[in-house]
Amino acid sequence: SARKPFIAGNWKMNPGTKDEAVALGKEIAGAFSSSTPCEVALFAPYPFLDATVDAVGSSGVKVGAEMAFTEGKGAYTAEVSVSMIKSVGCNWALAGHSERRTLFGESDEDINKQVLNLLNNDVGCILCIGETQAEYEQGLVGPICTTQLKKNLLGVTPEQMANVVIAYEPVWAIGTGLTCPASEAQDVHATCRSVLADMYGQAVSDTVRIQYGGSVTPETVDELMAKPDIDGALVGGASLVAEKFSRIINFEE
Ligand code: G3H
Repeated sequence: SARKPFIAGNWKMNPGTKDEAVALGKEIAGAFSSSTPCEVALFAPYPFLDATVDAVGSSGVKVGAEMAFTEGKGAYTAEVSVSMIKSVGCNWALAGHSERRTLFGESDEDINKQVLNLLNNDVGCILCIGETQAEYEQGLVGPICTTQLKKNLLGVTPEQMANVVIAYEPVWAIGTGLTCPASEAQDVHATCRSVLADMYGQAVSDTVRIQYGGSVTPETVDELMAKPDIDGALVGGASLVAEKFSRIINFEE
């Protein structure tokens, strides 16, 4: 397809120290070359963003925040604004990761506000969606993804969709070693793309990158990336191991 693949690492609350983050960022940047078949970004904890930006240097690897709060500044103890992350060289952020939804109670409305705030400040957004295990067992994958896309993207314009990437992450596949079978993930990605076509028209929908996330490994990435509607990956655990993530970003086309 005409879509440039995009593979991102989500470090979550790892690694434990700035030195480790810098070493990991440097190793990954060193594995990114002109023959790497995708865009690459690393989502790092706030205290390491500045150092990770330095670590990847001019390699072309992007660095982003794992979320950004919706207010510009003020009395919001412990929160981090979009202008703060931009000021350390980050032009990407995640929104709606399932851990934020389930462990920290973020609602579809909260996530919608985050998405709009990022886009209105010219920061790219990876919007994470996906069903829980219970929803999967009830056959609700399509309806859940449809609802999340509609609610989380409310008010986002067709033009702003150029700055949006969707990450489909079945919650049961996250950190479990149970990668969603590629053909099953492909079906969900095709459903998501048709929802985006309903919302924005086919031409816009055809340009939106849809990543798969959930136990992506060097062993599973090639088959996933061969599917027509899978345009990349959002990688957790394997993005903390430079050798594994280097193989993932340099997947076999
Ligand atoms: O954001 C990344 C996902 O939650 C996937 O994590 O690759 O460790 O399963 P995982």
